[in-house]
Amino acid sequence: METGLWKKTLAPYELAVEELTAKFRHVIKEYHIRNEYSPIERVTGRVKSVSSILDKMHRKNIPLEQLEEKIDDIAGIRIICQFEEDIYKVSNLISRRSDMVVKEKKDYLTHVKESGYRSYHVVVYYVVETLHGPKQIMAEIQIRTMAMNFWATIEHSLQYKYRGEIPPNVTQRLSAASRTIIDLDSEMSSVRDVIIDAQNSSLLQNNLVRDILMTIENLYKVTTEREVKKIQDEFLRIFKMNDLDELERFHRELDIIAEGYRVQQI
Ligand code: GTP
Ligand code: MG
Repeated sequence: METGLWKKTLAPYELAVEELTAKFRHVIKEYHIRNEYSPIERVTGRVKSVSSILDKMHRKNIPLEQLEEKIDDIAGIRIICQFEEDIYKVSNLISRRSDMVVKEKKDYLTHVKESGYRSYHVVVYYVVETLHGPKQIMAEIQIRTMAMNFWATIEHSLQYKYRGEIPPNVTQRLSAASRTIIDLDSEMSSVRDVIIDAQNSSLLQNNLVRDILMTIENLYKVTTEREVKKIQDEFLRIFKMNDLDELERFHRELDIIAEGYRVQQI
């Protein structure tokens, strides 16, 4: 296929990757707006390179005409979670969405690959709008913890370095590392509740401080500098107390004052 044709073929996949990453990043935002812990930590995406596509077509004996129906990871999304439990939450979240349809799920957490690879894969059908109307494509969403991602990244670069022929002693070490990562993930899961509580408090504090500062800024436009200075000093005093309940109380009081001036932030 000539370069221009590749570009045309891959364009809908570029769009899908952009849209899907934006959508999953928005999920993180929605959780944060609600002061809730997000099961998604980070989202990345990529369109498979032409040379990797050609490699795969060659390896799997796929003719050019069947490229789009046979290769399900031309559009690839990677979702990184903090904890193993989050992976299933994200998978359910994907199943419930109306803008993508699950084609298949592969659970390499319960069925660890021989290499030691662990991850959860969901292939979805996704529709993008093109100049010629809607086009349905497939996208592969890989969901894994940070620790699993660390392992997969290292293993992938070794595959690349040794051109798929990793020496047995390195393979053994990778297997051992994979088992250590299973232990690490399960240790992390056991402190998950404590970590999530701490993260939720810090999110709530961030949002409160942001709201308070915005209200003070708005008040600045409608009241005297002296009044604002007094409020600001009070805010600093409360902030230093490091007490979320106090900060919430101050936030409510400030809202009432702002309401009086009709400048309450939206
Ligand atoms: P593909 O031909 O690669 O699509 O194999 P498949 O159809 O059996 O798909 P599978 O779900 O097993 O793997 C798809 C993707 O998962 C690969 O393209 C890699 O990104 C990743 N993957 C699978 N196995 C491994 C592995 O052993 N190591 C690493 N680092 N990544 C893997
Ligand atoms: Mg595949």
